[in-house]
Amino acid sequence: MDQRYTRTAMTLHWLIAILLLSQFAFGWYLNDIPRGVPARGYFVNLHKSSGMLIAVLIVMRLVWRLSHKPPPLPDTLPRWQQRAAAASHNLLYVLMLLMPLSGYLGSNFSKHGVNFFNLVKLAPWGPDNKLVYTLFNQTHLISSWLLLALVMLHVAAALKHLFVDHDTIFSRMWPRRFSFRFLGH
Ligand code: HEM
Ligand code: HEM
Repeated sequence: MDQRYTRTAMTLHWLIAILLLSQFAFGWYLNDIPRGVPARGYFVNLHKSSGMLIAVLIVMRLVWRLSHKPPPLPDTLPRWQQRAAAASHNLLYVLMLLMPLSGYLGSNFSKHGVNFFNLVKLAPWGPDNKLVYTLFNQTHLISSWLLLALVMLHVAAALKHLFVDHDTIFSRMWPRRFSFRFLGH
């Protein structure tokens, strides 16, 4: 029985991982652009636009995941680790959704709205409300730290399976041609 994720699951996992990490870097870069200069608006709108495209991929992934069962974890894995894996994966999905959602909602409670790729102006559908904007903006900021911390834990767990446990968990997210056999499996 093949215990790997499918090609679709792997493609979506790695594509979204790369795009999300780049989007983080983009978000931090925004902090270096002083407020009030025209370049800031240009880059903030690029960040909003790429974030909305990533959100479409994340929703596609979630829909796909809800209709496809992942490969079962090996029975040898302690029960608490199976539960921890399921809980952390669920939380990763929640935070992956919360990130773009909070950014998008916040943008609609400011007069700026979203200028999609600086080409199409999407007028805000909400009132210009500083309090609501700040609420969503803070959610965006806090969930970015939570997501980053959880991704670091996720990567540490994946690497522990590869280098310490020498089990098949790490390989499950890689195509068969990437052989990690030299590491014991
Ligand atoms: C932004 C970065 C990342 C996010 C958001 C993320 C998210 C996820 C999610 C949600 C799953 C569960 C898949 C499912 O059952 O639906 C998963 C599985 C997995 N991820 Fe990541 N991931 C990221 C980066 C990485 C990196 C850098 C590695 C490797 C170093 C990695 C290794 C794995 C492995 C091995 C699995 C399979 C775990 C299992 O067999 O249960 N991920 N990832
Ligand atoms: C898809 C995933 C996204 C990630 C990972 C992400 C990440 C980030 C990060 C790390 C920051 C910097 C936070 C800080 O240190 O202050 C940021 C700022 C920002 N993001 Fe996102 N973002 C995403 C999507 C979006 C979307 C879809 C929108 C709006 C449509 C958006 C709007 C903003 C705005 C306006 C800021 C600047 C806030 C400020 O400086 O006051 N983001 N983002």
